[in-house]
Amino acid sequence: MSEVNAAASGTFSLGDHTINRLGYGAMRITGRGIWGPPSDRDGALETLKRLPELGVNFIDTADSYGPDVSEELIREALYPYEGMLVATKAGLTRAGPDRWAPNGMPDYLIEQAQRSLKKLGVEQIALWQLHRIDPRVPREEQFGAVKALLDQGIIAHAGLSQVSVEDIEAARKVFPVATVQNKYNLVVRESEDVLDYCEKEGIGFIPWFPLAAGDLAKPGSVLDGIAQKHGAAPSQIALAWVLKRSPVMLPIPGTSKVAHLEENVAAAGIALSDEDFAALDAAGRK
Ligand SMILES: NC(=O)c1ccc[n+]([C@@H]2O[C@H](COP(=O)([O-])OP(=O)(O)OC[C@H]3O[C@@H](n4cnc5c(N)ncnc54)[C@H](OP(=O)(O)O)[C@@H]3O)[C@@H](O)[C@H]2O)c1
Repeated sequence: MSEVNAAASGTFSLGDHTINRLGYGAMRITGRGIWGPPSDRDGALETLKRLPELGVNFIDTADSYGPDVSEELIREALYPYEGMLVATKAGLTRAGPDRWAPNGMPDYLIEQAQRSLKKLGVEQIALWQLHRIDPRVPREEQFGAVKALLDQGIIAHAGLSQVSVEDIEAARKVFPVATVQNKYNLVVRESEDVLDYCEKEGIGFIPWFPLAAGDLAKPGSVLDGIAQKHGAAPSQIALAWVLKRSPVMLPIPGTSKVAHLEENVAAAGIALSDEDFAALDAAGRK
């Protein structure tokens, strides 16, 4: 089988970086409940090392994945990240498996970004994202911390996660918003307005959980029919649909397995017809 490169889905510019639009989410290279080390450490390292070979040059992680485990494994496998952009986040704390709580105190955010800098072993974090706006802290104070990180050169670009258009506009009064990371896939479409706003403003939109297709993946469905036509898995068609939806779309499917990574990257080479795109769009909105 000839290998598809992640660049087949086109590129997106972020400052000096040219991102191949199919990226990788590094949340799954941790233990159960996104807690502790992965059960197959060698498999996780092998998956990470396969990324540059497949042309994937955009990785998404967070201080809270493990915690620390994901950032540390990325460094072990890929430092000095030749030609790659490693994006991280902070703003969610961990007390155990599957437990996540926001902390948007400005001093905490700044300290966590400095810790990520050390863990990743870089002089500057290329893209740092506020993982959640903490409802207990005035959002302007959290945005002020992001601006301080940019002003101090600790981070080069800043993004937001799980936000509304109104949040983005409020943040842009304080710092330039480079990316927005919201839950989005063929069947989870609550962020359509945020995506349209990002496209209009040239902001990168990073859909998380991008592979999901829910009941649409069932045998006999529209998705199933289109997948069969392409000789592809329904998850690959769901990803191809997400990629075609917008030129600012930067999906980061996550996996701990080389075979799944290869399958996901191959989706970058699937060209959906406008007709199939529209049929999937309509089915996904239902
Ligand atoms: N901003 C936020 O709040 C937020 C929240 C959640 C996630 N994220 C980011 O988004 C990334 C992606 O999100 P996600 O991991 O929740 O969703 P996802 O990438 O849509 O799905 C990942 C799941 O699908 C499985 N998988 C991956 N490729 C597969 C394939 N080809 N065939 C079968 N199963 C496959 C993975 O298991 P295997 O390991 O077995 O492949 C894993 O269980 C994360 O890594 C993280 O960076 C951000």
